[in-house]
Amino acid sequence: MLEEFNQSTLIPENYELLITHEEIQKRLFELGKNIAKDYEGQKPILIGVLNGAFVLLSDLMRYINIDLEIDFIRISSYGDGKESSGHIKVLKPLSADIKDRAVIVIEDIVDSGLSVQFLENMLSAFSPKSLKFLTLLQKPEKKIVDINIDYVGFNIDDQFVVGYGLDDQQIKRNLRDIYAIFG
Ligand code: PRP
Repeated sequence: MLEEFNQSTLIPENYELLITHEEIQKRLFELGKNIAKDYEGQKPILIGVLNGAFVLLSDLMRYINIDLEIDFIRISSYGDGKESSGHIKVLKPLSADIKDRAVIVIEDIVDSGLSVQFLENMLSAFSPKSLKFLTLLQKPEKKIVDINIDYVGFNIDDQFVVGYGLDDQQIKRNLRDIYAIFG
């Protein structure tokens, strides 16, 4: 049955396959193994940054073979645009108390780095025991702030990407693979 499932009707002509679902899963398996080793005995809280990271967090947490908690935060800088506005707002605050906890923030993509910088400043104020960042995708060429991402899935060129949680004007988040958009 699964072999019959394909998403070709959802893929416009200007989308080019960049990273397959299988490649993503393989990388998450590796990252999950590293995280389980690094956080053994610490019961980390994984904080997914909505909306984009919910698909990633859902898959990633099942590759981390230690006890963990999850929570979500929602911030926005892009709206429907393709460039960061630089004005970041918290649209949904954390629910969990992260004081003295090992926290890993889960991002789908780091572009300018402004969102991660904002989250680092904001979450540090709650005095977590440790605060690390994971991103599935990173665009080294676009980074304008000096931040360190502890776990990176894939470094990619400066191109607009979509699928696996990432949107094109709020749609296409349900694509299983990641595509680069041209034009
Ligand atoms: C995306 C992404 C990051 C941010 C990265 O969020 O999830 O949070 O942009 O860009 P930066 O490094 O330039 O700050 P977006 O505002 O598009 O919201 P979404 O996750 O709801 O699509």
